[in-house]
Amino acid sequence: MSLLPKWLVLCAAAAPLCVAATEHALLNLIRHGERFADKSITHLAPAGYDRAQYIAHCVSPSAPTLAFPKGPPSHLLAAKRQTIHGHNSTRPKETLEPLAKALKIPLDNEIDFEDIDAFARYVQAVPHGSSVFIAWEHKLIGRLAQILDPTSLAPPHYPNECRIPEWDEPDYTEGACYDVIWQFLLRRSNAQEMWRTEGFVHLHMGFAGKASGPCTEAFGPSSSFWTPSWTVDADARGFALTFCLLLLLIPSWMLGYTWGARRGKGRKQLSAPLMAV
Ligand SMILES: *[C@@H]1O[C@H](CO)[C@@H](O)[C@H](O)[C@H]1NC(C)=O
Repeated sequence: MSLLPKWLVLCAAAAPLCVAATEHALLNLIRHGERFADKSITHLAPAGYDRAQYIAHCVSPSAPTLAFPKGPPSHLLAAKRQTIHGHNSTRPKETLEPLAKALKIPLDNEIDFEDIDAFARYVQAVPHGSSVFIAWEHKLIGRLAQILDPTSLAPPHYPNECRIPEWDEPDYTEGACYDVIWQFLLRRSNAQEMWRTEGFVHLHMGFAGKASGPCTEAFGPSSSFWTPSWTVDADARGFALTFCLLLLLIPSWMLGYTWGARRGKGRKQLSAPLMAV
């Protein structure tokens, strides 16, 4: 018996176990769209409104993309920032509003941008199979990541600059980065367990300044210049899941995907087939 049929038999035998043993959810976290340097303006700047339209026209179709491999998001959440003292901002809401209209699903705008615990409760309440799209204030994004991702697969801060080839941000943004998506693959054994981050990857939206621009990078089926590289928490995974993952990864490897380099104790860089889980 050659190797491949053996794997096929094992896969077929283990498949019901793998499906029953794990639940997954996908979370895409972004900074709100472009703003003016003047923070007393609570709304998006023109490029921010264009980005919001770009998101709506690229994320609402049912075709799978890197950011939403199972089709459009099931949940939309935008941070609220309405304080008596300090600055207000309606930008996170404005960033996802056109998408909410296109999908005809509600946009939750009730959680204060500094209320990390309420954010965690929101995420813990999403059901198996959800894909969640969230717009927030960038300075808090590292803290949102930490609460879902105690082993810090994600970096602690939102990057200051993007260095993406498509487009230079307008001068009023002072070169700040707006294009990054923080994508988390969440896993739990069953609905009584907490979601925890099993995989993390940075993607980017490929917005090039035009509301109706072509949907590329994370909003296309593949990236033209960059291969997304997952950081995966291997230590946290139980034996059963490791086994299931290997069953899926080894055949994908045989079919031509490649392993990335090992990075750090208990972490592996894996290429895209993780999303097949
Ligand atoms: C921000 O919004 C709150 C609640 O709507 C309001 O009371 C406050 O005056 C606003 N602050 C500024 C600076 O506009």
